[in-house]
Amino acid sequence: MSILEEIKRLKEEKKAVILAHNYQPSEIYQVADFVGDSLELAKKAKDVQADIIVFCGVKFMAETAKILNPSKKVLLAAKQAGCRMAEMVDAGMVRAMKKKYPQAVVACYVNTTAETKTECDVCVTSANAAKVVNSLPQEQVIFVPDKNLGANVAANSKKEVILVDGYCYVHNDIRVKDVQRARALYPQAPIMIHPESCPEVVELCDHVCSTSQMISVAKSNGASSFVVGTEIGMIAKLRQECPDKKFFPLKADAVCQDMKLTELQMVKDCLQLGSNEIVLEKDVMDKAKGCIDKMLALS
Ligand code: 13P
Ligand code: SF4
Repeated sequence: MSILEEIKRLKEEKKAVILAHNYQPSEIYQVADFVGDSLELAKKAKDVQADIIVFCGVKFMAETAKILNPSKKVLLAAKQAGCRMAEMVDAGMVRAMKKKYPQAVVACYVNTTAETKTECDVCVTSANAAKVVNSLPQEQVIFVPDKNLGANVAANSKKEVILVDGYCYVHNDIRVKDVQRARALYPQAPIMIHPESCPEVVELCDHVCSTSQMISVAKSNGASSFVVGTEIGMIAKLRQECPDKKFFPLKADAVCQDMKLTELQMVKDCLQLGSNEIVLEKDVMDKAKGCIDKMLALS
């Protein structure tokens, strides 16, 4: 039996579903029941009926699935896969910010640990950040951890957005010169950019999108080729979704090391053994759920 067949058999036997992020290696798409961006994955996880969720992505995503559907067993296929940006801010740092800005509401990117979320008022993803922040009544907003997403929100808001020094090393390294080079090489191709990129880069691009919003743009825009400013795993996903169109990376070495840790063998092993379970204290889950629920209500 091939590994793909074995995973399929185990999924049925264990009553499991596999959720995967768009950046996962393309072989993982073959076994996933759903592939999407952070917002779509959170919504999907909430409605899962199966007993087990195998998450192919990074830890904060699996934690979000557990928080939204706590009666399910959530397994993270690649045990070590974390988000380096999520690790840049912790609950203590958020408490200190709240002390400094007592009037401010705290918005956290979903790319935060469950522990950090316990100190935050509302969560956002790359698909809804400006919409959620603009719908808050407070004028002052502490935004953690991504200084770039926060600055891109501020550019689309009248609110005072207070930033911290977190960033995604994959997107923060995309430079203005990469956009200039792409414009010269592919003058007809619209450039799509993820909002974790620096504001000076974002303002030169044509579409600011979460990973799944890139798929919508590629499908609805009449252009036949696009430049893609995000982790390069997205190129495979876009080619799969739009086989008649061409996609070129804005930065060919934009690789998230942690997203690439997942292997088919790991998916099979955790299904078979029930290993790599996400375990969170009830108190942490209850507090963190507040800010995620608020986002889902506002977006
Ligand atoms: P999306 O929600 O756009 O998929 O982004 C998640 C992420 O980690 C991007 O680096
Ligand atoms: Fe985190 Fe960046 Fe990797 Fe996304 S691409 S999971 S933000 S390190």
